[in-house]
Amino acid sequence: MCGIIAITTRKKTNVSKMITSGLKRLEYRGYDSVGIATINEGQIQIMKDAGTIDQVTRKYPFETLQGSTGIGHTRWATHGPPTKINAHPHADCSNSLMVVHNGIIDNYLSLRKELKKQGHIFTSETDTEVLAHLIEEEFKSEEGPDAVIRAFKKALAKIEGTYAITLIHTADPTKIFLARKDSPLVIGVQDDTKFAASDIPAFLEYTKNAIVLKNGEVATLTPEAVYIEKNGFRVQPKPFIVSWTAESAQKSGYPHFMLKEIHEQPIALQNTLSVNINAIEEATKQIFEADKIILLAAGTSYHAALTGYYQFQRLLSKKPIYPIIASEYDTYQQLVDENTCILAVSQSGETLDVMKGLTSARKAGAKIISIANVIDSSIPRLSKVSLYTKAGPEIGVAATKTHTTQVALLARLALQLEYSLEGWLEKEFSSIISNFSAEVPSIARAVITQNELKSKQLAAHISNQNHSYFLARGRNLPIAMEGALKLKEISYIHAEAFPAGESKHGPIAIVEPNFPVFVISPKDETGKKMLSNSEEMKARGGYIVSITHKDQEVVKRSDQSFLIPESSSHLVTPISYVIPLQMISYYAAVHRGFDPDKPKNLAKTVTVE
Ligand code: G6P
Repeated sequence: MCGIIAITTRKKTNVSKMITSGLKRLEYRGYDSVGIATINEGQIQIMKDAGTIDQVTRKYPFETLQGSTGIGHTRWATHGPPTKINAHPHADCSNSLMVVHNGIIDNYLSLRKELKKQGHIFTSETDTEVLAHLIEEEFKSEEGPDAVIRAFKKALAKIEGTYAITLIHTADPTKIFLARKDSPLVIGVQDDTKFAASDIPAFLEYTKNAIVLKNGEVATLTPEAVYIEKNGFRVQPKPFIVSWTAESAQKSGYPHFMLKEIHEQPIALQNTLSVNINAIEEATKQIFEADKIILLAAGTSYHAALTGYYQFQRLLSKKPIYPIIASEYDTYQQLVDENTCILAVSQSGETLDVMKGLTSARKAGAKIISIANVIDSSIPRLSKVSLYTKAGPEIGVAATKTHTTQVALLARLALQLEYSLEGWLEKEFSSIISNFSAEVPSIARAVITQNELKSKQLAAHISNQNHSYFLARGRNLPIAMEGALKLKEISYIHAEAFPAGESKHGPIAIVEPNFPVFVISPKDETGKKMLSNSEEMKARGGYIVSITHKDQEVVKRSDQSFLIPESSSHLVTPISYVIPLQMISYYAAVHRGFDPDKPKNLAKTVTVE
C-alpha cells in the first residue's frame, strides 16, 4: 500500500522525470493521490494532488521540477481522505525537509499533540506528517555533517508502527535518508545514481543491481554510495542482480497489465515448474516432520493455499491441515507450537496480516515454508524454506499469473509428497514430473487461445447484471472462490461463491431470469451433483455458464460453456479452470468502462492490518 521512490544522481539531469516514470510503475500500490518533491539549489520544490498520476500530472507537470535529488509517492489512503493536503510528500514547518511514507504510525495522535504544544503547525490529517515535524524538532538540537541522519534516527526511536520512509533535507541536499520497519524498501545501485523504492520495477529500467533494506535498518544514499546501519552499527550491503527484465514491467502492446499477465501464464508456469529441487525436498521434509500443517494466506493467495489444502489432505489424511485466512490467525494461534509447519503463500511476500501471523508462529517455534513471487521479500526472510513462483513482476492489482503459479508450485510440492509416500521409482517420478511440467503450460496456452473471444462475448452479455454466483464442489471450490473474487474486484458485479450443495439453503432465493450462475464442473466425481445443482438454478431462470469438459452432461444444459482440455492429472484443474474466469472478469471490467489494473479502493500489496 502506497508506493514510494527516491533518486539522487551526480548526473546533470533532473530526477523528476525518472521519479514520475517510477511512480507509474508503482501505481498498483495505490492511486488515490500522488506527489513529488525535489531539492534544487538548496530549495524544496513540490507538486502533489489527489488523483491518479495521469490526472495529477496533467495539472501539475512533475517533469518540470528541477534538481538531482528527489522523492515521490503514490497513495492508498489510510489516515485522512485522498485530498491535496493529505497527499505526500509532507513537509516540516519551514519547508526544509520532505518525507514520504508507506505504513502506519500507530502513536501519531499523541506525537501530534505533543508537537503541536511545541508550536508545530500541521496542515494535513495524515499520520505521516508527524514524522516531518518530529525530525524538524530533533534537528534543532543537532549540528555538524551528520545532523540530519542523527535527527532522523532520534525521530524513528519515538515512533511506533510500520514504515518505509524516505527523507530529503535542504541541510544535506544530495542525500536521501531511508528507514524500514515491516514495509518494503529496495535500493537500486547505478554508478553515480542511487534509487530507493517500494518495489524493484520502479527502477528496473535504470539498473538491475539491488539491495533489500531489512527491518530496522536505516540508510543514507549519496549519488556514489550506500551506507546502511542497524542499531548504530554499520551493515555491509548485500547487493544482488535482479532477474526480471525492464520489458517485463511494461505493457508491451497490451491495453492493460492484467491482460498481458493473463497471456504470460504459460511461460510463467513453465518457469515456475523448473523448481529448485533442494528447496522442494526440504519443504517436503518439514511437512513430513510436522504433526500439523497450517496454510496461511490472504486474498487470491488464500485461494491458492486452499487448493494446496485439498491436495495435501488427500495425501496426508491423518495429519491435521488447516487453511487459515491470515487476518484470522489469532483465532487459531493456540494450535501452533514447535511441531507445526506453516506454509505461507503470498505473491508480494509483504502482506502484513501474513507477516504478523508468521512472526507469532515463529515465536511459538513453528517451522515456516513460504511461497512468494518477490525474491528476498519479508515473508521468505522469515522462512526456513523459501519457494518462489517465477511469474515475473505482476503489476495488475488483480492477481492472475501469480495465482496460477502458486497453484502450480503447490501441486509440484504435492507430487513430491506423493513420491515419498508411494515409493515411486525415481525414473517413474521424473517422467511424471516432466509430463506435468510440460502439460501445465501447454494446457494454459490452449485454454487462453480457445476461450478468449468467448470470454469477451460472455462478458458483454453479463455486463448489465448486478449479481452472480459461482458454484463448485470439493476440491474445485477454490476455483469458484477465485472466479467470484476476480469478477467482483475489477468489474464490481457482486459475485458470491459457495459449495453448490449450499444453494438450496438460501442463495437460490434471489435467483431470477438471467442471473449469471457459473458452474465449475470438471470431469470428476463432483459432476453428477453439480448437474443437479445447476438444473435447480436453471429452473429459476439462472443463466448457466459452465466451465467444464466437453463430455460433461452439463454442456447440453448450459446457456454457455467454456470447454477445458482434459489433463492427465486433477492437479492441473485449478489452473486450467480458473483462466476463463480471469478473462471473463477482465473483459467485464473493460466492457463496464473500468480500468482492470486499478480497481477502486484496492491495492496490490497490503501492508496495513
Ligand atoms: C491484496 C491484493 C490481492 C492479493 C492479496 C494478498 O488484497 O489486491 O490481489 O491476493 O492482497 O497479497 P499477497 O501479496 O500476500 O499474495
